[in-house]
Amino acid sequence: MKHLAILLKSFLLISACQPSQTLTPKEQPMDTHSYSIPTESVTTHLMLDLNVDFTDKILSGSATYAIKNAEDASQIILDTRDLDIKSVTVDGKSVDIQLGPNDEHLGQPLTIPINPLSKEIVINYQTNPNAAALQWLSPQQTADKTQPFLFTQGQAILTRSWIPCQDSPGVRMTYDAKITCPKELLPIMSASNPTEKNSTGTYTYEMKQPIPPYLLALAIGDLEFGSIGNQTGVYAEPSVLDKAVYEFGDMQKMVEAAEDLYGPYLWDRFDVVVLPPSFPFGGMENPRLTFATPTILAGDRSLTALIAHELAHSWSGNLVTNATWNDFWLNEGFTVYFERRIMEALYGEEYANMLAMLGYQDLTHEVDALGKTSKDTHLHLDLEGRNPDDGMTDIAYEKGAYFLILLEQKVGKEAFDKFLKDYFETHKFQTITTTQFEDYLDAYLIKPNNLNINTHEWIYGAGIPDDCPIITSDKFTKVDAMVAMEKDSTLPTKAETAKWTTHEWLHFIRALDKPVSPEQLTQLNNRFGFADSGNSEIAAAWYEKSIQLEHYKYMVPQIEAFLVEVGRRKFLTPIYTALKDAGDIKTAREIYAKARPNYHSVSTQTMDALLGE
Ligand code: BES
Ligand code: ZN
Repeated sequence: MKHLAILLKSFLLISACQPSQTLTPKEQPMDTHSYSIPTESVTTHLMLDLNVDFTDKILSGSATYAIKNAEDASQIILDTRDLDIKSVTVDGKSVDIQLGPNDEHLGQPLTIPINPLSKEIVINYQTNPNAAALQWLSPQQTADKTQPFLFTQGQAILTRSWIPCQDSPGVRMTYDAKITCPKELLPIMSASNPTEKNSTGTYTYEMKQPIPPYLLALAIGDLEFGSIGNQTGVYAEPSVLDKAVYEFGDMQKMVEAAEDLYGPYLWDRFDVVVLPPSFPFGGMENPRLTFATPTILAGDRSLTALIAHELAHSWSGNLVTNATWNDFWLNEGFTVYFERRIMEALYGEEYANMLAMLGYQDLTHEVDALGKTSKDTHLHLDLEGRNPDDGMTDIAYEKGAYFLILLEQKVGKEAFDKFLKDYFETHKFQTITTTQFEDYLDAYLIKPNNLNINTHEWIYGAGIPDDCPIITSDKFTKVDAMVAMEKDSTLPTKAETAKWTTHEWLHFIRALDKPVSPEQLTQLNNRFGFADSGNSEIAAAWYEKSIQLEHYKYMVPQIEAFLVEVGRRKFLTPIYTALKDAGDIKTAREIYAKARPNYHSVSTQTMDALLGE
């Protein structure tokens, strides 16, 4: 009896301290892209146990959650999309769950009854073969063509299609995982990772730092590990590994440069996995394990700003996270700014300026495409009822970065760096809304420095503000002179361009315009081999430009081969759009019909909308 009384008392004590641990409504901003209500009950730790079936394209197993509840909690709601939920238990007892109606973007809410003292939820489930986050690749779609491959893409709201979860960037949790897959393959995650295969096919993982669900990630393939620095390395298929180790040779230096700028790297290791070419992005900042497209393996390290970008997310994004997808610019704008500072530290100011100028071109291009007065050109977005992907334009990246460059120019690099370092330190492992950032900016930068700057116009206004900084590059000025000659029908020679880097070539190709003649375009291609370039950025820029200048028919086979092989949306959208705008939707659709089976859902979603009937 006495024992029971003590037990009861400790029970009440625990329950008394539990409610304060959920977030208050003030701390938890409304995220319209998740059904979850973290103020009522929030998941704090996930234990994932999954078996991987390549034959049926199914992940099956269980997700076990530790939860924390408000005093009056009666339910916890998780996001799901196309999941087959087999059973749910709360503290070991099976419960009746409810799956709500399906929304095209959000999926279905899974409502689980709990009480304020509930602690643990176990969900047995399996994924759908068409799960939006997952891409199951046949051996043919990989570099080595011997083993299948699987990768996940969680951002923005796709994690719910492979794990039932509170799929909101404002919910952070730690996790551990157990993955069982065919013995020929090595599974790796956004967590502590094995570096080689074992004889059982079962592996365990741990992520000790709390992360939002969009950063949960898994890649499985015939992968090998190559070390770069004491904290850095790369996973790739055997035939790709040496090239990748060379390409990312400066990665350890990047980590050190980033730490010098904005404080310690808090995730232990920084590794990169090179995925098959259908990966829909250039890179994805999954913590401890950046996912990267093989299209950055140019052979000359010229496209590694992308690695600096994903690394920078280890601060902006993964440490300090956008509270909702409307605040996406806080992730990407800061990261682009930070990426260029890393590149500047490693390769000098001129290099960073070239990147910034290409970025500015992307920005003006995006503003033209969206329309100068479009609300989608605001930094702070309104994505309610839409696919958050719609907001993932160059506005967040480049207008965001240019806003920070403006702030930097107003107070000087030293003061701005201190501001950013403090910002990361004070907000680490937290989320931030645009409004919270504005308050912080006002208190710690604008007021103390008496700045006169129209923050509100930058964040809530359309287009490019008048005080947007102008960056110049001597190297690009020289390239401009070459383009001008071109118009007088004098082509640049091999000798004149011998020292040009990828970025100068990109600037050159982008600047070409009428009256450059079709003959000149052919000659340029013959002289410099753009259409067959091993540099994906150069090839893609050339295809787009040639289509826009309506002289591309001779290289349709190359364009097709490129679009069938590569699934990176940043390349697909401009090339297919150019074909469409040139009145050649027929070619676009013919190529797309062949290429589509090779694309991840993120890319087919966009291309279906672009090329649909
Ligand atoms: N986090 C993004 C990729 C992303 C954005 C995925 C939105 C899903 C939704 C990543 O960090 C990124 O920005 N990648 C860029 C690379 C870059 C150097 C700008 C890409 O993939 O092109
Ligand atoms: Zn990014």
